[in-house]
Amino acid sequence: MTADQAKKEIAALTEKINYHNELYYQQNRTEISDQEFDKLLESLIKLEEQFPQLKSPHSPTQRVGGTITKSFPTVYHKYPMLSLGNTYSQEELEDFDSRVAKGLDGDPYEYMCELKFDGVSMSLTYENGVLVRGVTRGDGVRGDEVTTNVKTIRSIPLTINAKNLPESFEVRGEVFLPRAVFEKLNKEREDIGEEKYANARNTASGTVKMQDSGEVARRKLDCYVYNLLGDNDVETHEESIKKLEQWKFNVSPTYKKCKNIKEVLKYIEHWEKKRLELPLETDGVVIKVNSLEQQQTLGFTAKSPRWAIAFKYKAESMSTRLNGVTYQVGRTGAITPVAELEPIFLAGTTVKRASLHNANEIERLDLRIGDYVFVEKGGEIIPKVTAVDQAKRTNKAKPIKYITECPECGTELIRTEGEAAHYCPNVNGCPPQIKGRVEHFIQRKAMDIDSMGEQTIHQLFELGLLKTPADLYDLTKADLFKLDKVKEKSAQNMLDGIAQSKAAPFESVLFAIGIRYVGKTVAEKLARHFKNIDAIMTATFDQLLEAPEIGEKIAQSVIEFFRMPANKKEIERLKKAGLNFEVVEQEVVMDSENLGGKTFVISGTFEKYERDDLKDVIIRNGGKVLSSISGKLDYLLAGDNMGPAKKEKAEKLGVKIISEPEFEKLLKGKSI
Ligand code: IVH
Repeated sequence: MTADQAKKEIAALTEKINYHNELYYQQNRTEISDQEFDKLLESLIKLEEQFPQLKSPHSPTQRVGGTITKSFPTVYHKYPMLSLGNTYSQEELEDFDSRVAKGLDGDPYEYMCELKFDGVSMSLTYENGVLVRGVTRGDGVRGDEVTTNVKTIRSIPLTINAKNLPESFEVRGEVFLPRAVFEKLNKEREDIGEEKYANARNTASGTVKMQDSGEVARRKLDCYVYNLLGDNDVETHEESIKKLEQWKFNVSPTYKKCKNIKEVLKYIEHWEKKRLELPLETDGVVIKVNSLEQQQTLGFTAKSPRWAIAFKYKAESMSTRLNGVTYQVGRTGAITPVAELEPIFLAGTTVKRASLHNANEIERLDLRIGDYVFVEKGGEIIPKVTAVDQAKRTNKAKPIKYITECPECGTELIRTEGEAAHYCPNVNGCPPQIKGRVEHFIQRKAMDIDSMGEQTIHQLFELGLLKTPADLYDLTKADLFKLDKVKEKSAQNMLDGIAQSKAAPFESVLFAIGIRYVGKTVAEKLARHFKNIDAIMTATFDQLLEAPEIGEKIAQSVIEFFRMPANKKEIERLKKAGLNFEVVEQEVVMDSENLGGKTFVISGTFEKYERDDLKDVIIRNGGKVLSSISGKLDYLLAGDNMGPAKKEKAEKLGVKIISEPEFEKLLKGKSI
């Protein structure tokens, strides 16, 4: 492809991607599947990699992240980000309304009501129609600049195409993790043996400050905007909201203009239950005086505006009897205590059980069997026990003795220092751990054997036919006929699914074998860095740490996994079955001949590439990457924070030191 063709292709892909993105986020419609969308994005990424000079700073590929930010600069807000006063009752709201009426000296006024979204507030600055800055609230006066992370949020426009756009303006909104995304994230964490996150809000807040924008993109944050600041020809809050909608920002359609406080109260009542059906958590209503001139007249107190207030819903909570505590064993052997409750009807559903997280939580709550406990349903699907109703405690309430043995296999439990959960160490003999491992193995992100389900695995286990994932590859049709209701067609389907899974790439296999803390992304990084399983199995702790984003916790877990003879044996069996245990290199496309036969040492950190990317690019173009500097070395590729000793040595030996942009020039076939 020539640069000219590439330019046209890049423009076409950009337009297509922006179109589908907007359809999805602004109109809640889709014309193509997620996979098709990802394919378009992948094609664009590839083209931009081949022709870096054609990459625009507003390219939709910014959405996938990939850059590492070591620390976020602190910036001052142009207008301070204030907070809101809270009210909890009708009287308090009526008091607010009286203050407004008094402040406006009898002039008529209207309110705008919006839901109070539970996330992290964000300020977005646009200049000449381009998003230039995203800043967290911080202390209200100054916050952290997290622009690269904000750009991964697909509902935030990177550019705005509209007539009469002010040269510069600021938009404020709430960045959040949709409920479903949060639940999925926690399931994934549980699956790889990570502790679950407590709530969506804190997770969103942690996510906007992650160093790896690629990881931020994978988290799938979203954003609702509710404020427009700057020189605009609008007179009311309503007009500014309409303008934001026109400019294709993501505005929650739940807002409403209310003529008086009575209508406000109706709005509050309307959303009290309905808000639980929304895709995100909300904890109240924000009431704002609609006229911007009147807002000015009313002004601010030291902390918050006099023209707006928040009404907070009471979390729905009820008291019920704790009948007992049962214990669940997860795939990784982690024990979760569960409160068995006298059934109650709460926020639309009957609640019989609630998670108690771990032994510390039981102690913290000072729970006893027979106690009456308060149960609350927040945004999460699983309700939680928030406190003991001490007034109702009788001397019959029995203290809880935490189990010391696994409820499934009787093995004595262990508790590692620094971890809240108890574990069953009988990894290879405890039924839920065995079944859980096979379920993990067949899931879509792993070996993708969708012709089998939880039930099938359960039965095959009961029949003694499935004790490890490798047993899947020994199953015969006769074995499958032993299952309930399995006929020729479904048996064949299962065998086909199992056979097809052998084509899964190495990174999927590495994820599937279930090393604790090794999620899909980590598996991809390990696969890319080490290329095959033997290199990972024999890697030392320090060598593992050299792989991108592998920390001590993961390195330790990998070492422990491969230390166990049962795991080594399992890998041998899977190898024999024909699974992929090495990376299949892609077709080679050379950027230029410039790197052919040349040797490089890479040092420091880089803006556009991870070190492994650079390594791949050099090798793909016929170069070699060495680890130490000698007189024969052609280039020292120097990034930020390169060690001074390396630099000195290269200078002494007369080795050419090149920067990242120089390297790119070289790559494009130019001379430097
Ligand atoms: S307007 C002067 N509208 O609540 C403050 N804020 O306690 C103007 N929030 O920091 C804020 N939903 O993070 C506004 N519809 C909404 C909101 C909202 C959530 C958050 C925001 C703000 C906090 C104030």
